[in-house]
Amino acid sequence: MDSNPIPVRERRHTGSGHEIALPKGDVTEGVVRIGDTVRRPHQQQSWAVAGFLDHLESVGFDGSPRFLGLDAEGRDVLTFLAGDVAGDDVEEWARTDALLASLGRFVRRLHEASVGFVPVEPFPPQSVEQDPVELVAHLDITPQNTVVRDGEVVGVVDFDLAGPSTRLIDSLNTAMHWVPLRAPEDLRHDADQFARLRIFADAYGWSAEERAGLAEFAADRADLSYRRMKLRAETLGGGWARMWGEGVGDVIRRRADWLRANATQLSRQLTT
Ligand SMILES: Nc1ncnc2c1ncn2[C@@H]1O[C@H](COP(=O)(O)OP(=O)(O)O)[C@@H](O)[C@H]1O
Ligand SMILES: [Mg+2]
Repeated sequence: MDSNPIPVRERRHTGSGHEIALPKGDVTEGVVRIGDTVRRPHQQQSWAVAGFLDHLESVGFDGSPRFLGLDAEGRDVLTFLAGDVAGDDVEEWARTDALLASLGRFVRRLHEASVGFVPVEPFPPQSVEQDPVELVAHLDITPQNTVVRDGEVVGVVDFDLAGPSTRLIDSLNTAMHWVPLRAPEDLRHDADQFARLRIFADAYGWSAEERAGLAEFAADRADLSYRRMKLRAETLGGGWARMWGEGVGDVIRRRADWLRANATQLSRQLTT
């Protein structure tokens, strides 16, 4: 049951006020804050996302924005989640092991809250190859999409890539962004990646089986992500094409190589 009785397509928000620019993400142009709301351009996936946010609200999950409706300019209106969000070059406060553990617990909670959601509006299909379907997942829990208060992860925003997938894919994707899992030459800051992966694994609660096969699975996912990013850059252009031009594909390739080269050590770190 949705807790908001007005269907998402009929919902309107009339509040207006002074627009404050928000930190630029990678892709969406024109995300602004007005009072305690965020305005984002209405997109193809907006209705499906709104349904998912309604579901999370209806089960009492408090770590995601609420969909308030369209404003007079036709933009999506969402509640603003107060807190700190890391910048593009992730600050030291967002690189602590304690925050990583908090993130693992948060993502577990988000997945538990997501179970049982049956989309009414379809999510756009994933490119290249569909993920197996277990639940609707966020799939883009980057530091720049995560809200932190008093050293704890309290929310995620930017559900643009949400869609049917699995717990393992979404949690692994989260770890990839946050540990981070990338070739050491691509790290912007020193990180004990093996130890940090273990911290995330324990906090989220990966099973013994998931841990044993994780490095290989992560490398295969990196290969898929290479193909998806390439296709998005070619077909969607914009921020996707810019990221591709900046060499994101090479970073993904080096990640896959690094994961394969370190698979044994990663499994040992996760299982003993
Ligand atoms: N609901 C929200 N509550 C708080 N901050 C938000 C919210 N939505 C967006 N932001 C802030 O605005 C930034 C850009 O918005 P986002 O929705 O992530 O756009 P993009 O698709 O460009 O990444 C985020 O990184 C975050 O700092
Ligand atoms: Mg974002």
